[in-house]
Amino acid sequence: MDFENPKFKEVFFNIYNALSRGGPGGTASTQKAFEMMRELPVDLKILDVGCGPGKQTLDLAGMTKGEIIAIDNHSPFIDRLSAKIQTRGLGQRITAMNADMFHLEFPKEHFNVIWSEGAIYQMGFENGIRTLGEFLKPGGYFAVTEAVWLKPNPPQELKKNWAQEYPDMKNIAENIKIIQQCGYQLAGYFTLPNSDWLDDFYIPMQARIAVVKERYQNDTEAMDLMPRFENEITIFNKYSDYFGYEFFIFRK
Ligand SMILES: C[S@@+](CC[C@H](N)C(=O)[O-])C[C@H]1O[C@@H](n2cnc3c(N)ncnc32)[C@H](O)[C@@H]1O
Repeated sequence: MDFENPKFKEVFFNIYNALSRGGPGGTASTQKAFEMMRELPVDLKILDVGCGPGKQTLDLAGMTKGEIIAIDNHSPFIDRLSAKIQTRGLGQRITAMNADMFHLEFPKEHFNVIWSEGAIYQMGFENGIRTLGEFLKPGGYFAVTEAVWLKPNPPQELKKNWAQEYPDMKNIAENIKIIQQCGYQLAGYFTLPNSDWLDDFYIPMQARIAVVKERYQNDTEAMDLMPRFENEITIFNKYSDYFGYEFFIFRK
């Protein structure tokens, strides 16, 4: 992300602040990953890292009776999630915190589950699961989604796109190897369906871009940035056979 460019950051959040998710995902996938975790206590403690506007946080709250701490470093997302927590009367069980995943200050071995949809890549997959793993109880689980190559030999245009967006992106087998080398036991994995990219993410994003374009129609600098946002959707529509998001569930 080109957040050093203030105009890019402004337009990015004008688009993203209106979406229900910050990345691909869906309730059925969250549920499927949750069900791959065995022998969890009833009073479990979950840490949701990079929670964004908190769609999966609220879904998880419906699947458990435990406590959830949801962290993100973008305060408008935390404000939106906090408002939903209050409206739904979940304040006893969910805490939304503005915090940086690189500098978390929880006790070691505190959580039964570390959940992170589409966010751990910020730390690098390996660094993220090693560093955050300190907060996980022995026997506790990670459930994370990560962008992956699904097929070898991607077309040049796609290779170039991911070289800019996430040069460190790996395939499924390479990520499984990292998980095992970090000492975790793999419990399951699956590829998010294309509907998880479209229904709550790219379809509303396309509509939001149209609104944002109206707003910025006299701002040449902002309008020049719009193709970058539109291109992400075009790339997905053209090449979604080659890449995807993989849910990995693994145990400490
Ligand atoms: C792709 S979005 C995913 C959001 C949410 N999990 C979802 O699936 O809708 C990645 C999230 O990570 C957050 N993020 C990025 N860097 C972060 C950091 N250093 N600490 C905490 N959150 C961060 C972003 O603000 C964003 O909400």
